[in-house]
Amino acid sequence: TEIVAIVPAAGIGSRMKADIPKQYLMLGEQPILAHTLDCLLSHPQITQVIVALNPQDEFFADLPQARHPKLVIVIGGAERADSVLAGLQAAPADSWALVHDAARPCLTHQDIDALIASRTEFTQGAILAMPVRDTMKRSDANGRIVDTVERELLWHALTPQYFASAELKLNLQAALDAGAKITDEASAMEWAGVNPGLVVGRADNIKVTHPDDLALAKLFLSHRA
Ligand code: C5P
Repeated sequence: TEIVAIVPAAGIGSRMKADIPKQYLMLGEQPILAHTLDCLLSHPQITQVIVALNPQDEFFADLPQARHPKLVIVIGGAERADSVLAGLQAAPADSWALVHDAARPCLTHQDIDALIASRTEFTQGAILAMPVRDTMKRSDANGRIVDTVERELLWHALTPQYFASAELKLNLQAALDAGAKITDEASAMEWAGVNPGLVVGRADNIKVTHPDDLALAKLFLSHRA
């Protein structure tokens, strides 16, 4: 099977409180998105890396990765799921897609390999995930604890998320049309009745969301070199 990567990178990163979209904030030597693309572009089994950009994007063309032969650019949409759909339109018909957040620059080939290999067990697709470590509480709207949620079966959903491109495209579109709340690819597959697999990923594959995350990501990357 041909394997492509789809990178939704069309967000404006409002939670970062920065002047530029968060995927373009510097992380050591290069922007966040450049680290993410380096990991995907250098993976031997990934034939195309499809990046969904904001129509107003002013930064992408300046990245050295922008001219990589494996790179394909599409215009993203209003929500993350719309951007992923735009990427899926460009994916080869019988390919499988690794959908990965632009804002997760600490991804490793080790995690990609584990996810790709999991297809023998999880034939309808799987996602990288982390078991929840802390005790989990449910609150009321006033910030008071209502109860403690059983932690044994709770996971953090990470990316990449790995599905057959055509099936994911169909389910994402149908779920969006039905008005379902779709925050990742697995939720669209779940909506369609599929139970995707969970593959334990590395704890350092964090999503850079708040300013503090940048320092943490920098630390993780510096420990690799
Ligand atoms: O904002 P959040 O961290 O949840 O965004 C996750 C990823 O989805 C980011 O890489 C962001 O650039 C992308 N995104 C997108 N199109 C949107 C909104 C977010 O590609 N409309």
